[in-house]
Amino acid sequence: MEIKFRDISPEKISTDLLAFPVREKETGEPLVRRLDRLLQGRLSEQIKKSNFTGAEGSTLRHSTAGTLPAAHVLLVGMGKANEVELDSWRKAGAQAEKEAARIGAQEVAFFIAPYGEPESTVGPVAEGVLLASYQFNKYRSESKPSRALRSLTLFRPGLRTSPVMDRSRRLALGLTPGVFLARDLVNEPPSVTTARYLGEQAKRSCRGQGLSVEVWGKKKIQAMNLAGLLAVNRGSVEEPRFIIIRYKPAKTRKRVALVGKGITFDSGGLSLKPAKSMETMKLDMAGGAAIIGAMSRLPELRPEIAVTGYIPTTDNVPSGSAQKPGDVIRYLNGKTIEVLNTDAEGRLILADGLALAAKEKPDCIIDLATLTGACMVALGNEVAGIFGNQQPLVDHLIRCGREAGEKLWQLPLVKEYREEIKSSMADMKNIGGSYGGAITAALILQEFVGDAPWAHLDIAGPAFAEKEITTCPKGGTGFGVRTLLKFLSSY
Ligand code: BES
Ligand code: MN
Ligand code: ZN
Repeated sequence: MEIKFRDISPEKISTDLLAFPVREKETGEPLVRRLDRLLQGRLSEQIKKSNFTGAEGSTLRHSTAGTLPAAHVLLVGMGKANEVELDSWRKAGAQAEKEAARIGAQEVAFFIAPYGEPESTVGPVAEGVLLASYQFNKYRSESKPSRALRSLTLFRPGLRTSPVMDRSRRLALGLTPGVFLARDLVNEPPSVTTARYLGEQAKRSCRGQGLSVEVWGKKKIQAMNLAGLLAVNRGSVEEPRFIIIRYKPAKTRKRVALVGKGITFDSGGLSLKPAKSMETMKLDMAGGAAIIGAMSRLPELRPEIAVTGYIPTTDNVPSGSAQKPGDVIRYLNGKTIEVLNTDAEGRLILADGLALAAKEKPDCIIDLATLTGACMVALGNEVAGIFGNQQPLVDHLIRCGREAGEKLWQLPLVKEYREEIKSSMADMKNIGGSYGGAITAALILQEFVGDAPWAHLDIAGPAFAEKEITTCPKGGTGFGVRTLLKFLSSY
């Protein structure tokens, strides 16, 4: 899709769909009135009939029937004036894309209203349009038309293109394929996305200048003594993999390590989950998928940062050879974990990844994991929990998340709760008490990062949309890709 910036007024622009953001209860504002005059009063008539108020998520479509060069006008509700934020523009872009798909429009023009600063809003609008066009149709027998638009024109009379706007356009176009890749990897059925497949896909998609992928098989994993990954894999007929993706640009300011949970299916193991809880458990490699998705875009976005991605991957299934509650894992840093619940497996494999990452002494380590149901209880479906041992790093990630439209909320590493993970016979056990499960999980991870600056994102809630959301159909959301890429472009 081509994204154009234009200095032009609404009555001059020729397009299939002319999107016009309207704030709640401001359908009488001068710009809408002007549009209404051009449309000979028919727009206000329709507004009255339809009760369109500009509430967030609402739209009103009007056919211009030749009174304007644009075929359709779309009013997009932006919500209450004092609640309009950057993400409102992303959602508005997504609404415009959906409406365009409904009427088969190929070209969309979006009016950058005067209450939005073009420098900060064109990026989100473009992202919204791009993100909403995602579909996962390969398992449908009836083909659906592609939703890729030919062009998006972001316009306003007097609009001047600035380098900042150019950069946001480049970032929007640059990050979208990474988000779509992460969504695809999550959406594939769990018998397709095995550890081996994830390794192959990492190799396939992480190509280009500065990027290389190494995939360790079971022998190498044994040789490297990745004890957590081997323990979780014991029940499986599928071999584990340990994926390492390296990005080394010519000029390097900093070194960042990314670690992603890659459980391709989480049945719980011998501590088996109930059927209902298992329905979506193909999502459990979403952290790893986000890292593959983000890193696949680095040759395009070219940050001056060396990035290494570590993805331990296996399924977590029961069998006669599976690890048992009561087993003890001895890690390469010498620490031991008593496994009392095989369903708390994410922390077991992340421990290997974090320990390996920490050995390289990077400037920071960021892990992404669909780690705990407890984090979903705390923060719901739209917000990820973030923990960390260095406040500026956490703050920076939260800021990147806000700009990227991915909500992060900090939860505390309560040192007193270390009591909860004390084992009667090993250094730790892999589960805490009944409460604060997201925190006790994070405390276990912390044992493996040493003193490296570290942030942990528990993305169990937002990694998967249980029903369609504005920017994504039901299924994998690719959560984390956008935040990571914003972070790597600004660290
Ligand atoms: N993968 C799950 C966490 C999860 C749950 C992600 C729901 C997304 C949606 C994780 O491996 C898990 O099973 N966690 C347990 C931990 C418990 C056994 C201490 C949980 O949250 O119940
Ligand atoms: Mn589990
Ligand atoms: Zn899991």
